Amino acid sequence: MMLLLMLMLSVVLLAHSDDDFCYDEEHCDPYAWGDNYPSCHPLLDSHHSPINLDHQLMKNDSLDSLNLEGFNLTHKGQWWLTNQGHSVVLEVGNGMQVSGGGLPGTYRTIQLHFHWGSVSSNGSEHTLDHLRFPMEMHIVNIKSTHPNLTSALEDPTGIAVLGIFVDVTYLHNENFQSISSALPSVAYKGQTKSIRPFPLVNLLPQNNLTQYYRYHGSLTTPPCSQVVLWTVYEVPVYISWAQFEQFVSGIYSTEEEAANHVLLHDNYRHIHPTYGRSVYASKDAKLLTNGVSSLALLNLLNVLLLLIFKHLAFCI
Ligand SMILES: *[C@@H]1O[C@H](CO)[C@@H](O)[C@H](O)[C@H]1NC(C)=O
Ligand SMILES: *[C@@H]1O[C@H](CO)[C@@H](O)[C@H](O)[C@H]1NC(C)=O
Ligand SMILES: *[C@@H]1O[C@H](CO)[C@@H](O)[C@H](O)[C@H]1NC(C)=O
Ligand SMILES: *[C@@H]1O[C@H](CO)[C@@H](O)[C@H](O)[C@H]1NC(C)=O
Ligand SMILES: *[C@@H]1O[C@H](CO)[C@@H](O)[C@H](O)[C@H]1NC(C)=O
Ligand SMILES: [Zn+2]
Repeated sequence: MMLLLMLMLSVVLLAHSDDDFCYDEEHCDPYAWGDNYPSCHPLLDSHHSPINLDHQLMKNDSLDSLNLEGFNLTHKGQWWLTNQGHSVVLEVGNGMQVSGGGLPGTYRTIQLHFHWGSVSSNGSEHTLDHLRFPMEMHIVNIKSTHPNLTSALEDPTGIAVLGIFVDVTYLHNENFQSISSALPSVAYKGQTKSIRPFPLVNLLPQNNLTQYYRYHGSLTTPPCSQVVLWTVYEVPVYISWAQFEQFVSGIYSTEEEAANHVLLHDNYRHIHPTYGRSVYASKDAKLLTNGVSSLALLNLLNVLLLLIFKHLAFCI
């Protein structure tokens, strides 16, 4: 009996250490991450990500566009796209680094990955005046003075992440094609596919790189280390509905052999308070207006015009 109990216990423990965090089950979802990863607990003095970017932003004219070295080149060799069960990650090899724009040093680019919603929900991690975009892409860079990620996670400014909102339109985005066409090959957790390198700048909002928000936050996945300088671009990039669907309806959080195939969707962490942190808007970023958003104002104006028009029509 005792032996059986111990056996069962070890099976439970093993299963737990294997599948340590998730987004869709109460015992391992973002609100429970702190149980296994103490630094994921949102304590009062902590600075976690993501956050809502709102009208409390401070304009900072010293925040000019970042130097994205090597982003406009087609590098040699191969990149690797992998389904890690929590996201799809593209490891990009050497040759790219990020600096300037108020960053304290040079950061070398190691990978990018995505967060998404579902067919019926938006899934960006940051929200822009409470608007959640369909997806968000993260380009992860580690300070070049660190030999590896482990040591960068010990440095309060060890990591710089570029966050890019992804919106959906009817137009196909050719620049996303090397990734979206490889998605079926990494449908299941653990699968990997090589990708021919392409200029990374193609995935960015190319005409609006001077418009961004900056704040000090954390990784949005365990161990939630509070060592990230965030650059969240204001203007989204666009992909087609068909390309979006390959993420939300084609990627599983489970292995191919698993008894149940579970779709990976809504893989974003909840919004955290800023607790008095400074959140800056770059020199060229448009400040969000206080209170009623301009979009809401525009809608109100439309309704008013419609009412006036109807009233006029009635009088005549
Ligand atoms: C790539 O960007 C650098 C600046 O980062 C610039 O000097 C260079 O001319 C660009 N090269 C191409 C091919 O656009
Ligand atoms: C503007 O941003 C820079 C770089 O992050 C920072 O050092 C500086 O303190 C900020 N300026 C103000 C007025 O907060
Ligand atoms: C979801 O994203 C769309 C844009 O693609 C936007 O129009 C809509 O308002 C968003 N929904 C929410 C709840 O933020
Ligand atoms: C990472 O770098 C640190 C500092 O140089 C080193 O002590 C450590 O062994 C490295 N860890 C790994 C996993 O390579
Ligand atoms: C993006 O940049 C272009 C060129 O500078 C500008 O005309 C446009 O208004 C910007 N878009 C947004 C949404 O700010
Ligand atoms: Zn991320």
